Amino acid sequence: MTVIESIPEIETPSPCLPFKPDWQHAEDLQIYVKRDDLIHPVVSGNKWRKLKYTLRQLPASTTRIVSFGGGYSNHLHALGFICHQLAMPFTAIVRGDYSASLTPMLHDLMAWNSELVYVDKVEYRQRDTLAYINQLQARYPGAVIIPEGGKQPSALRGVGEIMHELAVIPDYVLVPVGSGATLAGLVGQLYGHQRAIGIAVLKGENYLESEVNQLLDRTQTNWHIQHDFHHGGYAKCSRELAEFCRTFTREHGFAVEPVYSGKLFYAAKMLIERQYFEKGAKVLLLHTGGLQGARESR
Ligand SMILES: Cc1ncc(COP(=O)(O)O)c(C=O)c1O
Repeated sequence: MTVIESIPEIETPSPCLPFKPDWQHAEDLQIYVKRDDLIHPVVSGNKWRKLKYTLRQLPASTTRIVSFGGGYSNHLHALGFICHQLAMPFTAIVRGDYSASLTPMLHDLMAWNSELVYVDKVEYRQRDTLAYINQLQARYPGAVIIPEGGKQPSALRGVGEIMHELAVIPDYVLVPVGSGATLAGLVGQLYGHQRAIGIAVLKGENYLESEVNQLLDRTQTNWHIQHDFHHGGYAKCSRELAEFCRTFTREHGFAVEPVYSGKLFYAAKMLIERQYFEKGAKVLLLHTGGLQGARESR
């Protein structure tokens, strides 16, 4: 059975809706929101896009899936859910020891029978090294090991499909950047004058650009990353951002959270107010989901 058959609630194409905020100068633009947060109640947003082809192409000999993430990881959450649906054993290698106080995400993974392996920062840092992967492969024979955030090469193909679902041809596509795989997948499908703008959600100037270049396997000039909107770093939230997310969610009828989508929409507002885009431009904002990560620990 394929993943698609076993997760019937997956809804693609996701809606792409006109967006008319009352932000200064927004009326000069045609703004759209691609609601990838609506793809699935659990496997929302870029998680599904990034995992789809890897999971479709799992070797028949696969005994288990192993992956990595933090205690609130949307990636581990989505993958844990899918593995549970597939009755596929899943091991989550988690950065930090949460055994004394599980996060809501880890509670869910336990309920879905995932194996949780807590590792310290030093071990976690080795996650992409060949020696560590070999060690895991020896510990879990037959396992498929998926990198943190689902940034394996096949993720780009899944993400690229977003561009083919669009009825409008945007001049700009804005997307939050964590590992860079979602941005790279979009960049790979841009045509002509189209430009992708990544909004860094962490302090990663130069590092994030080199990650995207590495994923693209070539240098392209039709994208860049804005580094002014991380609000202090990964999962850091300024008072202004928290207030922005609350107001946004109340006024627009859909939710954003402070780790990814909140930073994206906040950056979009700032850029629009500064008249960054030329009049009449079509600007697409990609809502990548991730609302589960904003749940408070109990
Ligand atoms: C909800 C959400 N949006 C955006 C991103 C950033 O995507 P990427 O890591 O591909 O840059 C992530 C992390 O994977 C995420 O969980």
